[in-house]
Amino acid sequence: MAFLTRALLLASALHQTGLVSAQTIYQNGELLVADETNVAPAAAPVVDTASVSSDAEAFQLTDAVLANLTALDLSNISLFQFPEEGSEKRSLGLGCKTAPGSLLWPSKLVWKVFNLLAGGALIETVPIGAVCYQNSGHYNAAKCADIIQHWTESETHARDPTSVMSPLYQGETCMPQNGNTSTCELGGFPSYSVKATNVAQIQLAVNLARNLNLRLVVHNTGHDFLGKSTGAGALSIWTHNLKSVNFIKSYSSPSYKGPALKLGAGIQVGDLYAAASKYGVTAVGGECKGVGVTGGYIAGGGHSPVSSKYGMGADQVLSIDVVTPNGRFVTADETKNKDLFWAIRGGGGATFGVVTGMTVKVLPKMTFSGVTFTILSGSDTDVTDDVFWSVMSAYWRKFPSYAAQGSYGYSTLFPRGPDAGYMWSMLPWLVPGMKLADFKVMVAPLFEEWAALGLVFEPKYFEHDNFYDAWSTHFPTEAVANSNLRTASRLFPSKNWDSEATLNETIATIRGIIEEGSAFIGYNINGAAPAGTPENAVNPAWREAVMYGIIGSGWAPDATPQEVEVTNKKITRDWMERLRKITPGGGGYGNEGDVMEPNFGQAFFGSNYDRLVRIKKATDPWGVFWAPTAVGSEDWYITGQEDWLTLQTGRLCRK
Ligand SMILES: Cc1cc2nc3c(=O)[nH]c(=O)nc-3n(C[C@H](O)[C@H](O)[C@H](O)COP(=O)(O)OP(=O)(O)OC[C@H]3O[C@@H](n4cnc5c(N)ncnc54)[C@H](O)[C@@H]3O)c2cc1C
Ligand SMILES: *[C@@H]1O[C@H](CO)[C@@H](O)[C@H](O)[C@H]1NC(C)=O
Ligand SMILES: *[C@@H]1O[C@H](CO)[C@@H](O)[C@H](O)[C@H]1NC(C)=O
Ligand SMILES: *[C@@H]1O[C@H](CO)[C@@H](O)[C@H](O)[C@H]1NC(C)=O
Ligand SMILES: *[C@@H]1O[C@H](CO)[C@@H](O)[C@H](O)[C@H]1NC(C)=O
Repeated sequence: MAFLTRALLLASALHQTGLVSAQTIYQNGELLVADETNVAPAAAPVVDTASVSSDAEAFQLTDAVLANLTALDLSNISLFQFPEEGSEKRSLGLGCKTAPGSLLWPSKLVWKVFNLLAGGALIETVPIGAVCYQNSGHYNAAKCADIIQHWTESETHARDPTSVMSPLYQGETCMPQNGNTSTCELGGFPSYSVKATNVAQIQLAVNLARNLNLRLVVHNTGHDFLGKSTGAGALSIWTHNLKSVNFIKSYSSPSYKGPALKLGAGIQVGDLYAAASKYGVTAVGGECKGVGVTGGYIAGGGHSPVSSKYGMGADQVLSIDVVTPNGRFVTADETKNKDLFWAIRGGGGATFGVVTGMTVKVLPKMTFSGVTFTILSGSDTDVTDDVFWSVMSAYWRKFPSYAAQGSYGYSTLFPRGPDAGYMWSMLPWLVPGMKLADFKVMVAPLFEEWAALGLVFEPKYFEHDNFYDAWSTHFPTEAVANSNLRTASRLFPSKNWDSEATLNETIATIRGIIEEGSAFIGYNINGAAPAGTPENAVNPAWREAVMYGIIGSGWAPDATPQEVEVTNKKITRDWMERLRKITPGGGGYGNEGDVMEPNFGQAFFGSNYDRLVRIKKATDPWGVFWAPTAVGSEDWYITGQEDWLTLQTGRLCRK
């Protein structure tokens, strides 16, 4: 492949216009401070794009490009260099990542050079809420009102370079709702972001971060529940704008022949499903339209409405394009870079590099049948709590059989308040490839049991001849960016259903936690890999599971520090501990896990953990990539944290 980077085009442009230093240029006889408005980077690739599979890949950083830049005498090019041959094993040793304010923090000049090389893609962080703060220099009443009005919509955050949907981890600083009562600080937000639209910009950022020991964050949509896509004093790579989708009619690999989609790293679940619908196929993704597909979702495993039949998101991956910690752009698949190919499919995001794109299998178009309903208990209903729990128990008891038939049941269960009963919403229960008549046969015995308990409810059945219609009609739009909320998760293996005693204990334990105030986002799902799937790093606990549960709780905005501590400790050390006890040796789902999960390596990665750590150390001996609960993250800590909650507001230091 031939490459000419945007950086080189830019450097040539600078050369022609008479670069006097890295920060000033002559333009029309005038000395100007160089910025993206007067140093317009070349917009179009000048290489033959037939040799690369997306526009983003047309711009890559190579040794030859760097040599050309050096020849042009642009200063500080060494900061963007690849590691010397043989230096890969050299570690930067002890200490912390370089923080803003420290002597070694890059000067404004270095950031300017970086911005120029990156074609004007560098963004100095302005927190999303700054428009609500009069003294922030960014105050804008109309924009503020708009952000507050759309705060719980994921798109509000996904289109911002640094906003995260669990604001707890950025320290809940600069919240738009508090514009009149506090000041806007950077808190746990990164210092700078690179708005990546090509591979070269990502390579430059990785090389700069590695060479200067900067904290590096990878940020796609900001959906992460654990604070993995933000970090104080970091340089963040924002992948959201890598939006290419290409349909491949007939992809061929050693284990697969058939249709596929090549997805840019910014593709979200909604984009994926729209593309699949356009090409008349079914794609495997999550339920929420805003989640990034090839970013955190697939890297963490990825559960899907079709998982019980077709496996996890990570099981669909055919090929991965990734900028590794040494700054190189490589492809990993069944035949090349096999360790990376194994590790990235389930071993977690922000660990082995920046994924720029993935090619994933797609399934044939198929029928989806299912049902939604809501059941309430409490004194304002006809359902007593006793009946309610009998209803739940009857449903839970049948999980192995439903999962074996390909069921996906996704429901939320909330206490309606102290002694106020419960609300259980099925959102939906569906089976891929099943006709409604067969679905009704499957659910009939349960619904008869419920009728015998005296339950009256209104099932809303559906049947669609394709996934897109089933998904867009029967799945909820999920609210995000709640403050003061912690979640945790556990996978329940089918063996818990083998004996009635264990099953009773499992049900009683889950019920007990909900009765004490936890929410329960429950899934009836099995994540076994379909036959022929190349081995990958998906948490083995998924393969055995028939139930997956997210628990969680919040605290009031005016809660005292003691109350906050009690709630946080209760989730990790009490509720989760009870779930761990009834699933010994099992695990949780790292993408929706507890950031304080003790022994997270075992819980989120299971028996794959040791191999993942070996691959991490081999590909990233410098510790360029880090995120809370990521593979190898136990070698680092964030300064200034409580032992019951790690936020991303401190410095990142080696233990
Ligand atoms: C409302 C909601 C619904 C959800 N529904 C589902 C669901 O149905 N199924 C499911 O499995 N999960 C679901 N999740 C969890 C989701 O999979 C994770 O939050 C996931 O990490 C989101 O990935 P992202 O790239 O969109 O988010 P981000 O927060 O931007 O990133 C998540 C992690 O991935 C890393 N990362 C992102 N992009 C890259 C990249 N290109 N290269 C390397 N690392 C990268 C980030 O550094 C971070 O560590 C849901 C979450 C929410 C909030
Ligand atoms: C380096 O510069 C020369 C001279 O301008 C050019 O011909 C060549 O293509 C450049 N190489 C790369 C890899 O960009
Ligand atoms: C950046 O370039 C200047 C000028 O060439 C040089 O003096 C300085 O040492 C360089 N800085 C770094 C960090 O390499
Ligand atoms: C802040 O005060 C202004 C002026 O009183 C008001 O219009 C605005 O709604 C307030 N903002 C918030 C977030 O309460
Ligand atoms: C399990 O629970 C059911 C329903 O509450 C009960 O009938 C049964 O006796 C219990 N079995 C055991 C082994 O505890």
